[in-house]
Amino acid sequence: MATHQGALRIIATGRYVPDLVVTNDDLSHIVDTSDDWITSRTGISERRVAFLEATSDLASKAAEAAIRQGNFDKTQIDLIIVATFTPDLRSPSVASLVQMKLGLNHLNIIAFDINAACTGFVYALNIADKMLNSGAYHYALVIGAEVISKVTDYTDRNTCVLFGDGAGAMILCHDPQKVAYFNVASRGDGDQILYVDDTVHMDGQKVFQFAAKVFSETIQELLRMGRIIIETIKKIIPHQANLRIIQHAAKTLDVPMDRFFINIQKYGNTSAASIPIAFAELAENDELMSGDQVIFVGFGAGLTWGSCLLTL
Ligand code: COA
Repeated sequence: MATHQGALRIIATGRYVPDLVVTNDDLSHIVDTSDDWITSRTGISERRVAFLEATSDLASKAAEAAIRQGNFDKTQIDLIIVATFTPDLRSPSVASLVQMKLGLNHLNIIAFDINAACTGFVYALNIADKMLNSGAYHYALVIGAEVISKVTDYTDRNTCVLFGDGAGAMILCHDPQKVAYFNVASRGDGDQILYVDDTVHMDGQKVFQFAAKVFSETIQELLRMGRIIIETIKKIIPHQANLRIIQHAAKTLDVPMDRFFINIQKYGNTSAASIPIAFAELAENDELMSGDQVIFVGFGAGLTWGSCLLTL
């Protein structure tokens, strides 16, 4: 597990979820399940499903929300990274399509996608931090965006109840005052536990055990490196996969549940989009102040996992 220091300032955040709400009761008409089963095992009550929109549409709308929120001159963006495992096409990348949809074609921009499944946004922030730190790039637009409904098997009750569609975006720059720490990792031999071909396949219990273990370990690595005690962290914004995984981590880390930001009940697991959607929502609630430290933590297929601590 690589742990290293960075310096990253969040300039603006935004999110977008499709309008169509699919409740647990709706799913109970399609597969043999119930609201009670899904809520008690996962914490999910409903999720959003993209109907006529592609991943790049969701990503662009989240980016536009961030641009509006920060009143940011979008022509300054010179780096676009989209974390996704559900791109519109194999090529071009969602990031290139976002460049086009934002009307930034004429600018000198580097744009590409990365796939680290549900850890994608933490990986993308890590990459952005290093590229911005190099001095070659100045303003990064980092997006997590997924239309998981298009790879969901709606006859498989084990998986179809878990996922949702959405996108979250951040605009960032290098700032030596804003200390960051990153801890990211991968283990390729977990490839059969959670994978996606035409649809999502998962050994739920093994994923649960893996996530419950790495969630607290990766945060402890960050804290060790930064010589920070967890009590000073304002909020932990976890990948929203399962409420019980978060409760397990809270117990292991000995942190009260109200220090975790949770919105899984509304959106389900939106993979790479879940952390930036959650952070944008948290920022909208006006609970954050300059100087606060927050931790993002993700885990997913690969197996991949990682966390980062950012100073606001
Ligand atoms: N509704 C009703 N019953 C369901 C169901 C559903 N949606 N999905 C599975 N079941 C059934 C199973 O078929 C099984 O029935 P059986 O005992 O007759 O075989 C029973 O519920 C128990 O299944 P099990 O897999 O033991 O449940 P669980 O307590 O492990 O919960 C998950 C299942 C998927 C909720 C849980 O394992 C989990 O959250 N894992 C992590 C998944 C995840 O986060 N993935 C993404 C990571 S990025």
